[in-house]
Amino acid sequence: MQTPWWQTAVVYQIYPRSFADTDADGIGDLAGIRGRLDHLAWLGVDAIWLSPFYRSPMADFGYDVSDYCDVDPLFGTLADFDALVAEAHARDIKVIVDWVPNHTSDQHPWFQEARSSRDSPKRDWYVWREPTPDGKPPNNWVQTWTDDQPTWTLDEATGQWYLHLFLPEQPDLNWRNPEVVAAMHDVLRFWLDRGVDGFRMDVLHALGKDPDLVDDDPALLPIPHSALNHHESTYEIVRGLRGVLEEYPGDRMMVGEVFLLDTAMVASYYDGGQGLHLAFNFPPLFTRWEAGRWRHQIEEVAREIEPQGWPSWVLSNHDQVRHRTRYGTEPRARAAAVLLLGLKGTAFLYAGEELGLEDAVIPEDRVVDPGGRDGCRAPIPWTGDADHGWGVEDPWLPWPPEPEVRNAEALRADDASILHLYRRLLAERKAAPSLALGDQTLLDAPAGVLAWDRTSGGDRRRILVNFTDLPVDLGASAAAGGTWTVAVASDGVGEGEPLAATLGPDQAVVLRPA
Ligand code: GLC
Repeated sequence: MQTPWWQTAVVYQIYPRSFADTDADGIGDLAGIRGRLDHLAWLGVDAIWLSPFYRSPMADFGYDVSDYCDVDPLFGTLADFDALVAEAHARDIKVIVDWVPNHTSDQHPWFQEARSSRDSPKRDWYVWREPTPDGKPPNNWVQTWTDDQPTWTLDEATGQWYLHLFLPEQPDLNWRNPEVVAAMHDVLRFWLDRGVDGFRMDVLHALGKDPDLVDDDPALLPIPHSALNHHESTYEIVRGLRGVLEEYPGDRMMVGEVFLLDTAMVASYYDGGQGLHLAFNFPPLFTRWEAGRWRHQIEEVAREIEPQGWPSWVLSNHDQVRHRTRYGTEPRARAAAVLLLGLKGTAFLYAGEELGLEDAVIPEDRVVDPGGRDGCRAPIPWTGDADHGWGVEDPWLPWPPEPEVRNAEALRADDASILHLYRRLLAERKAAPSLALGDQTLLDAPAGVLAWDRTSGGDRRRILVNFTDLPVDLGASAAAGGTWTVAVASDGVGEGEPLAATLGPDQAVVLRPA
């Protein structure tokens, strides 16, 4: 069997509001993305994932969808979408779109209809409960992205509570209702027919709900319900989704956001080959920059995920502080790039990490996200001009730090930049089957260093990552065994030369057999 494209892919996440703007309204758009495809082709990514661009009142910046089958005018039109797909495909870049199945916007016609009366034919498309005698919400579940708020809102007009694991503007769909299942399958077909190569599926593990809506363990509160729980009915829902993708030719792919902080639970969504093609595994994203902790995460993935399916790795996204900011320095962010792209599995990049962007500092009067996620959503600086290629100097969020020097144009002109490091790493992954899909073996290495081999047939690469900011002598460790040439170095030092006896501070390298 041929390896499906997504297995060897590096996928690049685009948050459309913040990527590139063509109409100078300070909010990115689809034409802006199209205009920057050459940057992505030059970088060497295999696919883009677009965060939501659908019609939305933007209570959660697009994750509250009011029409799944149209583009919000802020971002353009369906014709812009088609042009983007055509031009991406012309550059051999696949297109994955976000699909938000757990909830709609409260402005979606389905919910408007459902809330219009208890007898509405769409009432059961959402999750309703009778008021309790004491006036309290039906259970103790806690919302995500807000502190300690219940997942229930009382609809005054009809006198029942509706469920929303996220904001009150995001009522949860009732996936027990076959009409909901059919309608949401049709949404997938709508985009598959338009030529998308797959979907990133939002909070997938939360689709199935406990029919008894049993309380969460009070000892665990206020952890949000969506991060605590999953219900077994979700597996069947996911199999149904896979069936829809399999109606289409060409390895259409689904990657699920399974926000459960336990790798074994994440692995269960691969469901022995009947579930997700890929699942995001977030524990590594929350792991400190320490060799021992990372070794543990890599072993967990090998033990739990690999028997079920193909792993995936991600360090940053639109919901979390960027890893450049979490890890604190650019040398570490560079070493992290070698780690991410050297591990066995599909790699996900978040737009701007190739520029080494830090989170923006958001003054209080510019905060717009209820979940405090504005910093990682700052606009991408393309040039060193005052408008950084946006046509406005002050877009919807402030710029990330140092945009006058840390922008795509300036970094592209500098061979030693982090941007060129990402490009070299992507090229090496393309050139080396061992990196793209080979087996992985962890090696013994000096304290503070992780070392592993990748092998595929006769092709081999070795990766060494120094997690400390001191030089480390490789001595007689297994990591130093053999004769190796440095193919890529996170700091550029020694590329093309034999592996030295010492790894530099924060240095990470990809090695080729000499
Ligand atoms: C996912 C998205 C996040 C959104 C939430 C609700 O976690 O990544 O941005 O707020 O789902 O849709």
